[in-house]
Amino acid sequence: MKLAVVGATGLVGSAMLRVLETRGFSFDTLIPVASAASAGREVEAAGRSWKVCTAEAALEMQPDLALFSAGGDVSRIWAPLFRDVGTRVIDNSSAWRMEPGIPLIVPEVNGAVLQESDFIVANPNCSTIQMVVALAPLHRAFGLKRVVVSTYQSVTGTGYKAVDQLRAETHNRMHPSEPVPVQPVYAHPIDLNIIPQIDVFMDNGYTKEEMKMILETRKIMSFPDLAITATAVRLPVMGGHSESVNAEFSRSFTLDEVRHILSSAEGVVLQDDPAAGVYPMPLMAEGKDEVFVGRLRIDASQPNTLNCWVVADNLRKGAATNAVQIAELMRQKGWLPY
Ligand SMILES: NC(=O)c1ccc[n+]([C@@H]2O[C@H](COP(=O)([O-])OP(=O)(O)OC[C@H]3O[C@@H](n4cnc5c(N)ncnc54)[C@H](OP(=O)(O)O)[C@@H]3O)[C@@H](O)[C@H]2O)c1
Repeated sequence: MKLAVVGATGLVGSAMLRVLETRGFSFDTLIPVASAASAGREVEAAGRSWKVCTAEAALEMQPDLALFSAGGDVSRIWAPLFRDVGTRVIDNSSAWRMEPGIPLIVPEVNGAVLQESDFIVANPNCSTIQMVVALAPLHRAFGLKRVVVSTYQSVTGTGYKAVDQLRAETHNRMHPSEPVPVQPVYAHPIDLNIIPQIDVFMDNGYTKEEMKMILETRKIMSFPDLAITATAVRLPVMGGHSESVNAEFSRSFTLDEVRHILSSAEGVVLQDDPAAGVYPMPLMAEGKDEVFVGRLRIDASQPNTLNCWVVADNLRKGAATNAVQIAELMRQKGWLPY
């Protein structure tokens, strides 16, 4: 089993190496891939170090599986080249997600649509993954009608350079006499700030991140007419993304029924005891594979509507964990060697 991790030196790629280890996903050879600037560096996995190489060198080794997290441009060029040498590609970028014929998979929600002939499989947007994991079991029970979501997203969602921006700005605020250079990734300061823009603006006034949440949710849930609107916001937070989700259903329900469904739903941890201060928070979700749901309330302003708060580590379930779960699914079906 030859496994390439494309983007192995990045935030998602590093999380990928940890998740492969904690989930016991075995391989004989790891091929860590990064830009030419990182070639020759070493990464640690499975108890030893592995030398980072370029995508060209990795392609020559014809891996069985390649987990891509190196940005859309890299995926657009390299994923088809790997597919053409027989590599199964699971791609974390947005390059292939909305492409007809490319499955967009969250195993707990639509793992069943994956087919043996799928050699490029897309991993959804991080904010979308955690929301659909929470909503899918409720949709099955009560029939979703409309979703209004507002996100509170971690800087880790923008990669290691954004984490560096926040750290440098915070350092300069705390130690003004010893300033370090800030290399801005965001258009505005992020320390002590909130930026209501994630990715670029589209002609309709939504950002690309908001449109990803809308379009990808419809594709994953096979629900092209789902009424859904999103506002995506960046905060100076690290551990994970949080979301306020308002979901209207066709059928009536009680909070007890919602609690019962969520507490047995695959991949969900219910944390809903507000009187005791128990609700999901990004600091506690960091490094975990599950989606945490709490602050359950009936929306009194209209019938059959639920308010909830959904948190997950965007580098784990929002990216690496979901990708490795897809690989596990492929292996269970016998499409990947052990
Ligand atoms: N962060 C998240 O929460 C999240 C969630 C879901 C999906 N994603 C997606 O995952 C991807 C990576 O995100 P990230 O946060 O891990 O970014 P990151 O921390 O900036 O890491 C980017 C990785 O890509 C590598 N890379 C850049 N150019 C390359 C090239 N030409 N060939 C091969 N490798 C190259 C980088 O290598 P160097 O170290 O050499 O620069 C680095 O390993 C993006 O497409 C992002 O949209 C991210």
